[in-house]
This record gives sequence, C-alpha cells and structure tokens, in this order.
Amino acid sequence: MTFSSDAILAYVERHTTPSSVELEELERETVRTLEDPGMLSGPVVGRLLEFLVYALEARSVLEIGTFSGYAALTMAGGLPPDGRIVTLELDEAHAELARRSIATSPHADRIEVVLGPALESLEHLPGPFDFVFIDADKQRYLDYYEAVLPKLSERGLIAVDNTLWSGRVADETDKEASTEVMRAFNDRVRSDPRVRCVILSVRDGVTLIRRA
Ligand SMILES: C[S@@+](CC[C@H](N)C(=O)[O-])C[C@H]1O[C@@H](n2cnc3c(N)ncnc32)[C@H](O)[C@@H]1O
Repeated sequence: MTFSSDAILAYVERHTTPSSVELEELERETVRTLEDPGMLSGPVVGRLLEFLVYALEARSVLEIGTFSGYAALTMAGGLPPDGRIVTLELDEAHAELARRSIATSPHADRIEVVLGPALESLEHLPGPFDFVFIDADKQRYLDYYEAVLPKLSERGLIAVDNTLWSGRVADETDKEASTEVMRAFNDRVRSDPRVRCVILSVRDGVTLIRRA
C-alpha cells in the first residue's frame, strides 16, 4: 500500500494538538505580509520543538533564524518558568514582525530577538544552551553547527530543520548545489565522532544531535 506524502502530512497535522489561535493568526499574518511564508516551520515541527524543550526542561534556548517568530513562540510554551530564548535574525522586516508578535504574547519577557548575521551574533553569546534550533541559511548550517556545539550544555540537544530537503537528499540524480549542501551537512554530522544524531522524517526532516 502506498500513500502520498501530502496525505500523510495532512493526517499528521490533523492528529497533532493544534496551535493556539494567536499562532494561527501569526501564520496568517506571515502569509499576508512576508515573502516566502513557506519558511515558517508550522504546527507539527512547532509542536515537536515545544515537546523537546519541555522534555529537556531547557532553560536556555537558542534559535538561529527567527523569521516571523512562530517557532520561538511555540518553543516558549515548553519553557520552565525561568527559561529564556534568544533568537537570531538577519532581516529587519522579519525581526520586526517577530518582535511585534512576541510583545503581545504571554512570553514577551522571555524571548529576545537579536538582529544581525547569526555567526556574528553568536560570537557574543557564550551559552551554555540546553536546546538549539538551527533554521537559517542552509549554506551556513555547518558553520552554525560548529559554532554551537562547544556551547551546548552537557545534556543539550541541537535540532536542525529541513535536512531531508523535500526528499532530494536521497535522490542520487539530484546534483543541485542546495541539495549537495544539505547532503554534505548530513554526511558530516553522521561521521562526526563527537556526536550522535537521528533524522526524524517530520515534515521536511528534523535532525536531532547530542554529544556522544
Ligand atoms: C526558515 S526561516 C526561519 C523560520 C523560523 N525558525 C520558524 O520556524 O518560524 C529562516 C530565517 O533565517 C534568516 N536568515 C537567513 N540568513 C541569516 C543569517 N545569516 N543570520 C541570521 N538569520 C538569517 C532569514 O531571514 C529567515 O527569516
């Protein structure tokens, strides 16, 4: 028996606890006002991130790639009372919408949006981070990985989005530069003796990484 991946995605979404009305409104505003709204991680990845933050009791969370703030706001729902999120964003319009959404949320005092190139911002963030979500420009994924790994707390976790790249990483005939970049990332992490990893085939692929 075969299923279309769209049908499975829709089923998974229908059987996952839905987002809050505020997050649904943020998703609609993102679609209305920002280019490339498909960058928003959405309700299933968002719920997964919230679960991970909750299960880890993560007090210090870092996100690389804020966009409209959807994932940051979702993760905030899993934080313990003294938990905080720092989220890094290059684009002013994205950061502006994220800051506005965060300001009117119950998590305003727990999420900080830092504007600028993430690798530069990271130089000023010593960590340790209990949970890191990497979801910015794919060609820098390896740089982000190398920058955050030493700043991970002892039982910390890194989650990396889009690592299946619409399934293209598994298509050997696909030689597109963006596909090769994601393949190189997946290969490097898999062969890195410092870590253990698993790719979850959730939406576009989410890789979880921890210290070996
Ligand atoms: C896929 S979106 C993030 C989606 C967000 N994590 C969510 O789930 O709602 C990627 C974001 O990374 C930002 N970005 C791209 N290059 C960046 C860089 N060098 N430094 C910081 N942010 C960057 C983009 O402007 C975009 O907003």
